[in-house]
Amino acid sequence: EVAASAEVKSEPTKEDAIAAKGEVTILYGSQTGNSQQLAELAATQLKEQGVDVILSSMHTYKPKQLKDVKQLLIVVSTHGEGEPPDHAITFHEFLYSRKAPKLEGLAYSVLALGDSSYEFFCQTGKDFDERLTELGGTRLYPRVDCDLDFDEEANEWITGVVKSLAEQSGEPEGVVQTETQAVSATSTTYSRSNPFQAEVLTNLNLNGRGSAKETRHLELSLEGSGLSYAPGDSVGIFPENDQALVEALLETTGWDEEEAVTINKKGDVAPLKNALCCHFEITVLTKPLLEKASLLTDNQALKTLLQPDHAEELKAYQEGRDLLDLYEDFGPWNAGAANFAAILRKIPPRLYSIASSYEAEPEEVHLTIGAVRYDANGRSRSGVCSVECAERKEPGDTVSIFIQKNESFRLPSEEAPIIMIGPGTGVAPFRAFLEERDERGSESPAWLFFGDQHFTTDFLYQTDFQRWLKDGVLSKMDVAFSRDTAEKVYVQHRMKEHGSELFTWLEDGAYVYVCGDEKHMAKDVQDTLIEIIQDEGQKTEEEAVAYLTTMQQQNRYLRDVY
Ligand code: 2AM
Repeated sequence: EVAASAEVKSEPTKEDAIAAKGEVTILYGSQTGNSQQLAELAATQLKEQGVDVILSSMHTYKPKQLKDVKQLLIVVSTHGEGEPPDHAITFHEFLYSRKAPKLEGLAYSVLALGDSSYEFFCQTGKDFDERLTELGGTRLYPRVDCDLDFDEEANEWITGVVKSLAEQSGEPEGVVQTETQAVSATSTTYSRSNPFQAEVLTNLNLNGRGSAKETRHLELSLEGSGLSYAPGDSVGIFPENDQALVEALLETTGWDEEEAVTINKKGDVAPLKNALCCHFEITVLTKPLLEKASLLTDNQALKTLLQPDHAEELKAYQEGRDLLDLYEDFGPWNAGAANFAAILRKIPPRLYSIASSYEAEPEEVHLTIGAVRYDANGRSRSGVCSVECAERKEPGDTVSIFIQKNESFRLPSEEAPIIMIGPGTGVAPFRAFLEERDERGSESPAWLFFGDQHFTTDFLYQTDFQRWLKDGVLSKMDVAFSRDTAEKVYVQHRMKEHGSELFTWLEDGAYVYVCGDEKHMAKDVQDTLIEIIQDEGQKTEEEAVAYLTTMQQQNRYLRDVY
């Protein structure tokens, strides 16, 4: 080996390097687009080093090819209670099935994305990492688990992987650029790392007087940004914490609001008050945060809460509590503001599905934001971003935004029928779809299922949908108002009522889109789809599930759920 590398060093031609390197396969399983973007970034970096790259979403990758792969990178997020994103499900299942090949010659590495406020943090990435080893693979670089503020860790992983691959192939030192670019950090284009300050043009409450809900319709200006988007994309908003909460925290702790605290790994500093408003998340108590906090106090109660046999109690404690609760509940603290600043997570951007069409309104982007407010543990609580948009963003104010591409939630490229299921704020992308169809003059059939609490106060975008229905942009609309009748009716009940017709649409190649609540609605809608396929197609449950899986692989069953 020493001799070989010495030989390469003596004549390092570009061709030698390429020949030595062998192809790298990068597979991603993305739900909101982050994994895809990072996989693309890794691919770009490797290509720049002369490496041949195969880049694919897991759902379109033929898993049988895996047995011939020598170098594999996996970028995958985790959903809900430790589940793979939709597009990773079949590949994940394949690896755990008896069909999974022996992977002895495989070198791999996993980048796992997740949210540490969930119990099964980065579980899907952990699964892949463990399973690939069980199948005989070896890690070419250790797995990295990223939290919501993934930029720094993800870049470290990419740099590390690129370096390890170069070392494996005996790349002469110095040829490899070890400094990878920050995630799309160029100063001329606006992105997650360089957000655009968008002016608020309009901010309306879509709900009528007397509604239990407040859903804001925001119109933001993109003028001068150079930003564009497609129906299915989202806008990321960087929120600021509620000033009143920050002030309450400062008062309770007695911290000096001017104290300079470190706000990132680079070592940038900001005055405490500003840091608490704009840089740190103070409204979520993740387990890692509580673990680090437990080292700052002698209070036994917190240490007890964190023991494995108190998992349920811990979960209950985290629900609806923030940094102020933590401070009040587990003192006295052997720590000051700087110690707390060191353990807080960066405030993550919130993603909202875009409710307008760029083709129709290129200078604007519209969002549909449900204000989250509730009482818990003796205080009223609010969703950081949704309530900021509802209460503190008026026309003329600005919002810090970026466009999050979602290539996996797209209108069909051909003229196929579409079925859209989007109760509540889940209707947002379908307003974008229909506005786009209107602009393009699409003539394929389109069917919308919408639901909310009450017809009179909660029929979001009613006039838009009725106009499109009249113009033929929308062919059918079925609505379910859950609280207008003694018995609750939901979108899936309407789907079931029209099961026969819905199945005919599926057989005609319809695309099915679901947007909105993941845990209840999207799950019930999926069960209903399977029932309809089973009943109307005279299939067993297993066959119906396979039918839906095939639709998913054909990109005909797409979900934007949260
Ligand atoms: P509810 O609040 O009356 O229960 C948008 O939020 C709409 O989705 C509301 O009408 C809400 O009804 C409804 N919804 C709640 N749970 C649902 C579920 N499991 N499936 C479908 N719709 C649901």
